[in-house]
Amino acid sequence: MRVLVSGGAGYIGSHTVLSLLASGHDVVVVDDFSNAKPSVIGRLEALSGKHVPVHAIDLTDAEKTERLFDHERFDAVVHFAGFKAVGESVAKPLAYYRNNLDSTLSLLEAMRRHDVQRLVFSSSATVYGEHAPVPYSEDYEHLSSSSPYGQTKVMIERIMSDVAAATEGLRVALLRYFNPVGAHPSGQIGEDPQGIPNNLMPFIAQVAVGRRERLTVFGDDYDTADGTCERDYLHVEDLAAGHVAALEHLDSMVTPVRAFNLGTGTGTSVLAMLHAFERAVGRELPYEVGPRRAGDLPAFWADPTRANTELGWRAEKSIDDMCADTWRWQQANPQGFPDA
Ligand code: UFG
Repeated sequence: MRVLVSGGAGYIGSHTVLSLLASGHDVVVVDDFSNAKPSVIGRLEALSGKHVPVHAIDLTDAEKTERLFDHERFDAVVHFAGFKAVGESVAKPLAYYRNNLDSTLSLLEAMRRHDVQRLVFSSSATVYGEHAPVPYSEDYEHLSSSSPYGQTKVMIERIMSDVAAATEGLRVALLRYFNPVGAHPSGQIGEDPQGIPNNLMPFIAQVAVGRRERLTVFGDDYDTADGTCERDYLHVEDLAAGHVAALEHLDSMVTPVRAFNLGTGTGTSVLAMLHAFERAVGRELPYEVGPRRAGDLPAFWADPTRANTELGWRAEKSIDDMCADTWRWQQANPQGFPDA
């Protein structure tokens, strides 16, 4: 298939581009490079041995999006593009609603006009909100999220469901990611947060490489085995494979829309993750315990049964693989991707 990957220069997008190419698909990337460096693309081309066409377009611009679809033919869209920082979304809700919703609406309009009938969407476990029982199951229906970022995911899932119900032939897979970490085993592409990392794994990696003094563990008084929060970390390579599996499953879907959890089904604590990273690095890493972070839930992980059975997909890589690959990427690229 010829696949348009929105946000294809970003962390999960770039790994998915490689998986799609390795599976024999053609890929076109659209990215506005607001949170990704153009140098990612050269790395993707070197790793895949293929040319990766790129359009530097902001998808909130409906006219430019339409023109892209006028000039290129796509069999499918994998939609990653969007703002994704939970804390920032609380401070700038309008920017999040405007960006994440407008870009999705432009894409959906262009897909409708050009009869593109396959869509895979980058959703998040955050749609389960505070009250869903753990492990999270796709059968849980009371979706909500405590942050504007998460709420854009809930709203976009709803918009896509409504559009699919009204569009003969459109098939949509909503992929609810748990906590993606890790990097390509080559060490050539990985997560490259701008500024101080919000997320645990890139923060630990930057402590290990000497860019940050110490990790602050956000609370050790939760009702969990070691008192720190537990999350379902999955390797970004497994996640990328999940997108290929979902894309290839769309044509055999019996309902227009289907949500799939992409996770391992196992929770790992903050301290367990830190200690796993220490094993990868071969030394202890400095940390302190600080107060809880507002909005954090104590523990959640996926029930991945649906993705296992319907997509034939399973997360294969271990926590030690995730840490080893992140460390290889961080060591080879201590400051992330080059500017040029
Ligand atoms: N943590 C620390 N110190 C840090 C960073 C994180 O102790 O410096 C802890 C957090 O408190 C949490 C755990 O590490 O317990 C994981 O935190 P992340 O920020 O890495 O991940 P979250 O589970 O908070 O966020 C993820 C995704 C979001 C998504 C959210 C809810 O990054 O996109 O899950 O599903 F919205």
